[in-house]
Amino acid sequence: MSTPDTWNAVDRYLADTLVDEDAPLALARDSSGDTTGGHIEVTPNQGALLAMLARMIGARRILEFGTLAGYSTIWLARATGDDGHVDTLELEEGNAAIARTNFKRAGVFDRVDVHVAPAADTAAELVERGVEPYDFVFIDADKPNNALYLAAAMELTHAGSVIVIDNVVRNGGVVDEDSSDPNVRGTRAALEAAAADPRLSATALQTVGSKGWDGFAILLRVA
Ligand code: DHB
Ligand code: MG
Repeated sequence: MSTPDTWNAVDRYLADTLVDEDAPLALARDSSGDTTGGHIEVTPNQGALLAMLARMIGARRILEFGTLAGYSTIWLARATGDDGHVDTLELEEGNAAIARTNFKRAGVFDRVDVHVAPAADTAAELVERGVEPYDFVFIDADKPNNALYLAAAMELTHAGSVIVIDNVVRNGGVVDEDSSDPNVRGTRAALEAAAADPRLSATALQTVGSKGWDGFAILLRVA
């Protein structure tokens, strides 16, 4: 029968069977509980998916909106290889300090920059500086700003880049077109912007698992 308990058990089985989560990753996952977000990090099998998508396109430069303890950041940083680089955007210095400790333990400290500021400000600054475009973007910060983060991502990527947006289903809340929940409104605005942008090929998938019922949007820049 489908219940949150069975979703959990299946996630555990799949992760135990297929996913190589080493001690630094497990410690990073544990330390998410000490961040202001609590345990909202991606699951091990989702982290492995993000890393796989990044490797499939040979991503060398990655931008992440939302760091917290850096669990997904480590998956992504390892996927870039030694000469890769990740810029990850975090509002809270306390979370960034936890993340830096995790990056050192995971051997990726030298290839990750944590930018402590409102993510919209850092993103605007990266656009202003004209940084080298990113190959892969993971949008997983405050949901009301999702459309703004997607717009920034479009300024900071190139044809062939992949953009993933987390938490686009939120227990089904996404289908409520009159929702007053700013998280739902932000997510719907981002999905609608993606759909309207001819430079993007877009899809999204529902997921169930140890993080409940949620989903990822996956966007490929075709131009
Ligand atoms: C929330 C945010 C996330 O990024 C997530 O993966 C799960 C939940 C939240 O804000 O509740
Ligand atoms: Mg998330």
